[in-house]
Amino acid sequence: MPGTSTSVARGLDGVVAARTRLSHVDGDRGELIIGGYELKQLAGRVSFEEAAHLLWRGALPTRDELGRLRREFAAVRALPEQTLEVVRAAVAAPPIDALRMGCATSSLDLADPDDISPTADLEAAKRLTARFPTVVAAHARISEGKEPIAPRTDLPHAANFLYMLHGTEPDPIAARALDTYWVTVIDHGMNASTFAGRVIASTRSDMVSAVTGSIGALKGPLHGGAPGPVLDMLREIGSADRAEAWVRHELAAGRRIMGFGHRVYKVRDPRAEVLAQVVDAMAAARLEDRTLFHLARAVESTSLKVLDEVKPGRNLRTNVEFYTALVLQSLGLKPRSFVATFACGRVAGWCAHVIEQHAQDHLIRPQSEYVGPRGLKVN
Ligand code: ACO
Repeated sequence: MPGTSTSVARGLDGVVAARTRLSHVDGDRGELIIGGYELKQLAGRVSFEEAAHLLWRGALPTRDELGRLRREFAAVRALPEQTLEVVRAAVAAPPIDALRMGCATSSLDLADPDDISPTADLEAAKRLTARFPTVVAAHARISEGKEPIAPRTDLPHAANFLYMLHGTEPDPIAARALDTYWVTVIDHGMNASTFAGRVIASTRSDMVSAVTGSIGALKGPLHGGAPGPVLDMLREIGSADRAEAWVRHELAAGRRIMGFGHRVYKVRDPRAEVLAQVVDAMAAARLEDRTLFHLARAVESTSLKVLDEVKPGRNLRTNVEFYTALVLQSLGLKPRSFVATFACGRVAGWCAHVIEQHAQDHLIRPQSEYVGPRGLKVN
């Protein structure tokens, strides 16, 4: 660019923006490490509460610690009146917007919302993480003209969410599927929503502000908003024999195939594999529509083949959102609630990053390359 000597890393691609102990994504090997463990060590083997403890405290909890965290979550699950009012006012808004608004009200009942000490951050993290599912379930019911169901204190986190959504205690396989899903998406390196939260926290702003900003970043279809469209795509394709023509038509029209491609993974996203197994287990237990699962497998292999042919060298592989769509719809969630349900898992990771960023206490302030005119004069 004339007049400048800077070089721009477009989309900060390849730029290392933070040091973290929380998670690591190896895009070439298809590996995700969370708090020292490979994803496959954790997913399906530890509960969401245990994974949250791992991120916030640096180690998996003992039995006593887990019991304490579960009780602490249960104690703050219910929504304060002001949050419920906002959720009701957002009845027609997308669930992720209702969650963003509900999240922002959380500072109203914190003793000192501007306290960013480790103890205060941990308290805020527990409150936000405990309440997110309550907001999402309440909004889902209100938008269907039903009354919200109060949370129970005797159920684990995932089972309680399904209870608040449907009004009955969930099948243990369904609760386990949701638990595995939330562990799978709990943290993922320096993704856009995590980075957004860290930028906010780096100004010494508070946990609620940072997490509210993260929700805004997660909402976009290039980040967390893809699973709804994945389901639309599967429904539109309808049967495996129509997949190839459909995918070719979309690509020829310049559109993207949702659930494929990733900025970091150049091989299959390891989370997609974990979630494909979850869907398989649900199908075996007749909680998932087997026809849809088979169609998804067929659309996946066809899309990979056609993407390789039409977009050679881009290494577009299946990402987490593809199987997320199947897991969440089989749990009885509507596509419009998918991204908000994703946030219920990711919130624990966002909070951990805010805690880490506050401890590092260093302002994130990159530069920009000016490409506008110079020397203009006001007449
Ligand atoms: N379908 C078709 N083409 C694609 C896709 C796709 N899903 N993804 C990327 N491409 C193409 C682009 O058109 C571009 O082609 P070109 O070189 O001919 O212009 C090339 O691949 C590179 O695309 P970029 O946008 O530069 O790649 P980037 O790394 O920025 O994109 C992203 C990553 C945004 C996830 C992209 O792959 C995408 O839009 N996928 C579909 C949406 C989706 O699944 N989002 C969920 C992501 S997972 C998550 O965030 C939790």
